[in-house]
Amino acid sequence: MLVLGIDTSCDDTGVGVVELHPDGSVSVRSNRVWSQTVHANYGGVMPELASREHVERIDAVMGDALAEAGVSVEQLGAVAATSGPGLVGALLVGLMYGKGLSQGLKIPFHATHHLEGHIYAAASEAELQPPYLALVVSGGHTHLFDVRAEGQYELVGATRDDAAGEAFDKVARLSGLGYPGGPAIAEAAKLGDPKAVPFKVPLAGQKGYEFSFSGLKTAALLAHRAGAKPEDLAASFQAVAVKSLVKTSVRAANDLGRNTLVVSGGVAANQALREAFLQTGLRVLFPGKGLNTDNGAMIALAGAAAIRAGRGEHGLGDGATAYAPLANVEGD
Ligand SMILES: Nc1ncnc2c1ncn2[C@@H]1O[C@H](COP(=O)(O)OP(=O)(O)OP(=O)(O)O)[C@@H](O)[C@H]1O
Ligand SMILES: [Mg+2]
Repeated sequence: MLVLGIDTSCDDTGVGVVELHPDGSVSVRSNRVWSQTVHANYGGVMPELASREHVERIDAVMGDALAEAGVSVEQLGAVAATSGPGLVGALLVGLMYGKGLSQGLKIPFHATHHLEGHIYAAASEAELQPPYLALVVSGGHTHLFDVRAEGQYELVGATRDDAAGEAFDKVARLSGLGYPGGPAIAEAAKLGDPKAVPFKVPLAGQKGYEFSFSGLKTAALLAHRAGAKPEDLAASFQAVAVKSLVKTSVRAANDLGRNTLVVSGGVAANQALREAFLQTGLRVLFPGKGLNTDNGAMIALAGAAAIRAGRGEHGLGDGATAYAPLANVEGD
C-alpha cells in the first residue's frame, strides 16, 4: 500500500510517499520539501507568510513527490497529515489538503502528531520495535520519550528552557555564523578547538533526565564578547551540547533498561552528535538522509505504522492544534 504523508507545521512544505509492504516492512519512495526563504529578513518565521506560501506551493510539492515515487494519485492507499503541534494556519493547509485528497479518492485519512513523525523518520532505516527510548532534538523540542509499546509515549525528560536546535540557531546568530544555525555551527566547528571555551555541562549531577540550553547560550554570548573566535565558540558549544544530550540520554537508557535509542529531529543531522551516540554501546537509530528536519515522508512513515498496527482512519474531524502533548502515559 502506498501512503502519502504531508507536513506543513512550520516553514517547510513537505510531501512524501512510502510503501507499506505485505510483510510489514516500509520503504521511502519519495520525499520532497520546499523550504521557505520568505522569512529570511525577519529573524524568525512569520506565521501568516508561512501559511500563504504553503497554499501556493503544496500542489507543486505534491506533484513532485508523486513523480519522484513514480506513482499516480489514484494509486495511493491512504493519506496522513500533521495536525499538530505547529503554527495553526500553516498546519491547516496540509491538514485540509490531506483530508480533501482522502475524501476525493475515498481512501483512509490519518491525522498524525508531528513528534511521532520525527520519531518514525528513523523507521526508514530499521524497524522500530518497542520498548525503546526516543530523543527528539529539533528546533522546538528536546524531548526524551520512553516508548513502551507502539503508540505509547512516556515523557521522561525535556528541556527546561530552550530547545537544542534553538540554541544552535542562537549561538550561530550571536557569533555571526548565519542561518540556519545548526549546519553553520557544524561547519565552523570543523575549524575550531572544542576545548577553547570552557563551557560547563548543564545540569551536571542531576538525578532526573532534563536538559537546559539557555545558560549555555548566555555563556556563549559572554565568550563572544570576550573575543572568542567564532570557530572556537562553535566547536566548544557543539561539544558541550552533544555531551549533555548523550550523557543524559544514556543514563536514562541504562536506568530504564532500554538498549535501543532513536535520535531524531533536525539536530540529529549533526555529525558530531551522531558519532558520539554511536560510541555509547547502545543500539542507536537515526533518520535516513533528508529525514531529520521537517518532511512529509516521516508523516507517511508514522501513518504506515498506524495502518500496520491495525488502526483505522482517525482524525478526519480533528482541527489543527498549536499545542499537542505526545505523552499519553504521563503528563507532557
Ligand atoms: N547539522 C546540524 N547540527 C545541529 N543542528 C542542526 C543541524 N541541521 C539542522 N539543525 C537544527 O535543526 C533545527 C530544525 O529542525 P526541525 O526542522 O526538526 O525543527 P522544527 O520542525 O523547526 O521544530 P519542531 O519539530 O520541534 O517543531 C534547527 O534549529 C537547526 O539549526
Ligand atoms: Mg519539526
